[in-house]
Amino acid sequence: MNKRILVTGGTGYIGSHTVVELMQQGYEVVIVDNLSNSNITVLDGIQAIVGRRPEFVNADCCDYVAMDNVFRSYPDIKGVIHFAAAKAVGESVEKPLHYYRNNMHSLTTVLELMQEHEVHHIVFSSSCTVYGQPDPEHLPVDETAPRKKALSPYGNTKQINEDIIMDQAHACASLRATILRYFNPIGAHPSALIGELPNGVPNNLLPFVTQTAAGLRDELRVFGDDYNTPDGSCIRDYIYVVDLAKAHVCAIERMLSGKTQEQVEIFNLGTGRGLSVLEIVRTFEEVTGQKLKYRIVGRREGDIEQVWADPTRANTVLGWRADTPIRDVLLSAWNWEKHLRNIK
Ligand code: UFG
Repeated sequence: MNKRILVTGGTGYIGSHTVVELMQQGYEVVIVDNLSNSNITVLDGIQAIVGRRPEFVNADCCDYVAMDNVFRSYPDIKGVIHFAAAKAVGESVEKPLHYYRNNMHSLTTVLELMQEHEVHHIVFSSSCTVYGQPDPEHLPVDETAPRKKALSPYGNTKQINEDIIMDQAHACASLRATILRYFNPIGAHPSALIGELPNGVPNNLLPFVTQTAAGLRDELRVFGDDYNTPDGSCIRDYIYVVDLAKAHVCAIERMLSGKTQEQVEIFNLGTGRGLSVLEIVRTFEEVTGQKLKYRIVGRREGDIEQVWADPTRANTVLGWRADTPIRDVLLSAWNWEKHLRNIK
């Protein structure tokens, strides 16, 4: 059986790592990406790692005609992994309409075309942002924890898109969907041939850390050390992007082999371990030997104090576990930054 998967946003950070894992497991992949937040050279990196080049279509997932052409051109598509979305929390506050139009229209277009072309399986990239700040009795947070009102338009698009999938599954009995709620993906492929390519000044912690170590930024600002956590800085569940990518293969495999028990299954993807910002800084310094210039500043608006996953459901049902040691993960991020900047 030719197992072709359509990966929207497949030249992006998590998308590209997932394409690698899919291809290494024998899947054929067609990527659709409009390169709005990624670079075409990512395809070279994927090819160098896998030894084959994925099919690539430069298109916007909101473009019904272009997407219809993709489904027509690849009638062997068996499932869709839908990454394509705008993802900057701060930008979403500035440009809410862009986020609502782009993130929701792309999903509805993909779902409409899946129904039209009788493609029954979708994996959707969601986020732990749907939980907001879980109440203390819900930490670590499992999938039954209540969703909280979103703190940003970006977060709201994730919640609404989850609901869109639920409603479509209700209306369309043949649809199977897996919603993956990511915690904080970090690191890069061990080959250092693909990794995160932030646009402009990074908002996320790890790219800011590696860029500071590489001398592109003067100093890291640690947003707050007066939180109610052991060292006062915020706690997150940092998950290796390659482990995260592998979960997508497990999810698609589970749906294609008819093992799913509910029409829509939801999984938290995290390690089960929370690390503080200062722990990340210290461990990064230790494993890379780089002294990191940092300064404690005030809290960042909208930041959640602490959240980490209970990944038991993904561990037992998907048979997946994020077990790469944080030291290896941080080193992979640094190796990627060195590769980008030609640092020996
Ligand atoms: N941080 C700093 N300095 C920086 C950048 C980040 O101290 O320069 C801190 C933040 O305050 C936070 C932690 O590092 O405590 C992680 O911050 P990130 O921006 O890397 O990640 P967030 O947890 O804030 O956001 C991530 C994703 C969002 C998603 C959210 C869900 O980037 O897409 O998780 O909680 F919505």
